[in-house]
Amino acid sequence: MSSESGKKRVLVLCALPYTNAVPHVGNIVGSHLPADIFARYCRLKGYQTLLIGGADENGTPTEVAALELKVTTQRLTDVFYAVHKRIYDWFEISYDNFSRTSLPVHHRTTQDFFLRIYEKGFVSAGVLRLPYCENDKLFLADRYILGTCPVCGYGFARGDQCENCATLLEPSQLINPKCKIDGSTPVFRDSENLFLELGKVEGALQTWIKSKEAWRRQVTSLALSWIDEGLKKRSITRDLKWGVPVPLKGYENKIFYVWFDAPIGYISSTKEWAERSGDPEAWKTYWLDPSTTIYNFLGKDNIPFHTIFWPGMLMAHGDFNLPSEVVGLQYCNYEGDKISKSRNWGIFCEKVVESGLAPDIWRYYLTYLIPETKDTEFKWDEFESRVNNELVANIGNFVHRTLTFTSNFLSGVVEPVELGEEDEAVHAKVLAEVDEADRALRDVRIRDAMKNILQVATIGNEYFQRSQPWVLIKQDPARCRQVIYSCVSICRILAVLLDPYLPESSKKIYGFLKLEGRPRWDDVSLPLGRTVIEKPEILFRKLEKPELERVKSIVTKSTDAKDYFR
Ligand code: MF3
Ligand code: ZN
Repeated sequence: MSSESGKKRVLVLCALPYTNAVPHVGNIVGSHLPADIFARYCRLKGYQTLLIGGADENGTPTEVAALELKVTTQRLTDVFYAVHKRIYDWFEISYDNFSRTSLPVHHRTTQDFFLRIYEKGFVSAGVLRLPYCENDKLFLADRYILGTCPVCGYGFARGDQCENCATLLEPSQLINPKCKIDGSTPVFRDSENLFLELGKVEGALQTWIKSKEAWRRQVTSLALSWIDEGLKKRSITRDLKWGVPVPLKGYENKIFYVWFDAPIGYISSTKEWAERSGDPEAWKTYWLDPSTTIYNFLGKDNIPFHTIFWPGMLMAHGDFNLPSEVVGLQYCNYEGDKISKSRNWGIFCEKVVESGLAPDIWRYYLTYLIPETKDTEFKWDEFESRVNNELVANIGNFVHRTLTFTSNFLSGVVEPVELGEEDEAVHAKVLAEVDEADRALRDVRIRDAMKNILQVATIGNEYFQRSQPWVLIKQDPARCRQVIYSCVSICRILAVLLDPYLPESSKKIYGFLKLEGRPRWDDVSLPLGRTVIEKPEILFRKLEKPELERVKSIVTKSTDAKDYFR
């Protein structure tokens, strides 16, 4: 531990996706990609960093999907876990652990968590009036039931939350409820269930949220408005079969509400990581040592759960660290409309991995689509122009022209030289962009930082162009070596800065420069030593129309979920 102590410690948590369907591009930009870029940035800064996630496999979402697909819940979750895992791996989402909430470690952790808050008096028993479908012979909680939202009037609100206004609901609050499976009108039955007494932590929650000055305003104001309405007790058990059993006499036939167990998955996934890494206690520093900073990345519909419900659970429990930052992301649309799998409208990830375009090409454009402040929109003509004009013609071009020149005219060798006035000025401009990028990333403004990085390439290209090394090599070879030394230094800086965004390309540039070891953020301020260059290959190729059409025809057709179970 000693060498690691004193280092900043960061736990990056990405909302656990329901694995009852295949992710689309909106899911990638809405949590996994920003969480990954941020975690990679933290590692680059030398922080002790973990990126933790997993599959949310319990409760109604899984039961409904299994019913619809006529497979067992076990089969469903096994198949979709593999599908999800493959996609995140392909996109190079650098999870230290991607767990499953159906695993024993998670069941145990959830039950222990519950018993603790039960013993501390934060749980009460009560009657939950639940809609019951007489055709399907089951209680219709959460996503089994749809109706009109009592708050905003949206017609398809779910039993536990309105998708439109994000309000948390109880099933009995829905106006004109209907069974999602067969459309019938349910009857209401009373059932004895357990509730979390959120009222008991209301004051503490309010103080905590108000102390979060760095949070995005939309997140804080939403959270405070719910508290202003008064926090009611919230049900945490369900009359279902697939999930974590409730370890309490009289409740043996019930499981926990999926939103009770899922966030505990952050802890159990960290435990699983610790077991795998051979130090089963290692999870504790992340969750128990208050010097850890926790960042949660999630979509906007998850904000109430991460600003009220989950922190409320954590406060009731008392031992664990609360999130420091709740990064609530907006939605990403596709060509003027909401992404929809059933209407085949969007970009579907299981096809992206087969598109033949490198992950970095996707990551580049998708970074631009991270909905940090408002909804964004995938547009094919923008995909083409950003890749061709920025990635290929700016970043790729600068690295390539610099390194091929070095290789062709300087036998691939650059020696440190004294810089001239203009070179110093260029270098200072580059370092100013680096500082801006650093500040932006620290504040989780991931897109802003990418603009600074692009600007570094622009500065480099202008400098190269202006200096005309191809003329200098004949007329003033010493000056030529100065210019090229500066350009190669900028290439190294780009390689470092691109590591969180385009990990494969960053590695390639590192390889061309024959640099050893992993890049570190602080390397950018060190002068480049003697460097022998590998003859570079092209980093990024221009996207031509036919290629783009081919890719488009592949990635816009979603796979029928049934196809996974033939
Ligand atoms: N499965 C939920 C969703 O996709 C997110 C769960 S996040 C966690 O909306 F906090 F519960 F882990
Ligand atoms: Zn609503």
